[in-house]
Amino acid sequence: MQKNWWKESVIYQIYPRSFKDSNGDGVGDLRGIIEQLDYLKDLGVDIIWLSPIYQSPNDDNGYDISDYYQVLPAFGTMDDFDEMLAEIHKRGMRLLMDLVVNHTSDEHHWFQEARKSKDSPYRDYYIFKPELPNNWQSLFGGSAWKYDEVAGEYFLHLFTTKQPDLNWENPKVRQEVYQLMRFWLDKGVDGFRMDVIPMISKYLDFPDADFSDFNKVIETLYCNGPRVHEFLQEMQEEVLQHYDIMTVGEGVGIRPEQANLYVGNDRKELNMIFHFGHMFIDHGPGGKFDIVDFKLSDFKRIFTDWDKAIGDLGWLNIYLDNHDFPRMISRFGNDQNYREESGKLLAMLILTLRGTPCIYQGSEIGMTNVKFDSLDDYRDVETLNAYRDYQSQGKDLNELLQIVHVQGRDNVRTPIQWDNSAHGGFTKGEPWIKSNPNYQEINVEKSKAKPDSIWHFYQDLLAWRKKHSTFVYGTYIPVEEDNEQIFAYERQDAQGSYLVILNFSDQAYTPLGQLTNGAKVLMSNYPFSEDPILKPWEGRIYQID
Ligand code: GLC
Repeated sequence: MQKNWWKESVIYQIYPRSFKDSNGDGVGDLRGIIEQLDYLKDLGVDIIWLSPIYQSPNDDNGYDISDYYQVLPAFGTMDDFDEMLAEIHKRGMRLLMDLVVNHTSDEHHWFQEARKSKDSPYRDYYIFKPELPNNWQSLFGGSAWKYDEVAGEYFLHLFTTKQPDLNWENPKVRQEVYQLMRFWLDKGVDGFRMDVIPMISKYLDFPDADFSDFNKVIETLYCNGPRVHEFLQEMQEEVLQHYDIMTVGEGVGIRPEQANLYVGNDRKELNMIFHFGHMFIDHGPGGKFDIVDFKLSDFKRIFTDWDKAIGDLGWLNIYLDNHDFPRMISRFGNDQNYREESGKLLAMLILTLRGTPCIYQGSEIGMTNVKFDSLDDYRDVETLNAYRDYQSQGKDLNELLQIVHVQGRDNVRTPIQWDNSAHGGFTKGEPWIKSNPNYQEINVEKSKAKPDSIWHFYQDLLAWRKKHSTFVYGTYIPVEEDNEQIFAYERQDAQGSYLVILNFSDQAYTPLGQLTNGAKVLMSNYPFSEDPILKPWEGRIYQID
């Protein structure tokens, strides 16, 4: 197994709009991040992944970029950015930028030029068609093709109508991408998180899709197109290999058996991907708003299958939530009766599986999903599109509200709760989205003041992981795979052997003794105990050699 700094590091994701507002305009900003760098250093994270901060009309909160070389004024200036980067490096941390190059904003000057004429040198930067080529649906609802009056043709947008897909077949597009990557790398950023990177190569015959299973369409038609690996190898050759950096691909649509084509160390493509297995686990055939139940054994099998598929050749990024999915405690834990316990247990999972862990902002204080009373309080374009569709089809809006409470992306986009002052201390103004009303109870100040809080547990666990390299490089061996109550596995290498047992339930787990065989407890999310019973949502790490 090759050793690399990016395998040993822990990533923390900042969604800048919701992190910290320094100037009272209600939107988080770069100076707000600078103010909180000591907080992150103190927590013990190594790398910050920053969601997009570029110029954007914010149809999809910055994932629709209109200028890759400018900072969004609401976030600050390029000087603020340079200062932030220097301050991150001064503290021995690193910065990953979000690279969003499957599509741009329709307000990008390339698109503005492209639509003007068929002879424009930019026309081929996008995918225009004279007739509607197929039945493709956007991931955010509605047709994936929009007729553009100015262009007199249809263009492809796999996401919103304001996110036209770039045409990677055009070598000029690829050169533009490499150039903007060099611009940020030459400033000293330490790598990229690559947005929907498996989508950059399209099936040029644009076949019709069978939408009885949306996930399958994503896997087989929208992702892993015929030239994706050629493009990534070219990117490696032209840009990545010239810098000491890391890359993590958003691995949407990638099947376990395809993973090492992207991240195998013989491939010269990406360092790691994060997969969607567990993120799509409760999505029915109709997609994420078609919620289905799942079993713990299914959840565990996903991690095991991926670990096996990756083997010693590739590497994974491990996460349980991010800016696109619900809060992990609400989804995989119990945010009502065992918020602290399950929050700590999920931290144990992320930090002891094999792969580079990624913590989403607010997890370290146990933030939860939000239940706004009205659809009008939501801001995410995905939710608003569904709202519009439900309305136009005369469907039950209350039913949609219940679904959004479970699956909506705004669950994770409410402002970070710093203290118990108005809006959780996120802003002195009016926040762009309401705070979760539970900020009085759940906030950073309170969590830091309480010695056995989730925050301190994260801090201890991060420090502990640094001292136990087995949790980085050791093998992962699943235990009790069919057990529907506990998630258990061993991590082993020449440095040590450990058994992790996590009780994913509200009930005590009594046959514990049979598994542990008198092994010694090293770490637990409850007050230390050798008791042969696991309490609800209790997790323990044992030494077994
Ligand atoms: C990725 C991003 C998501 C965005 C989409 C389109 O999935 O994480 O936030 O909406 O790509 O850019």
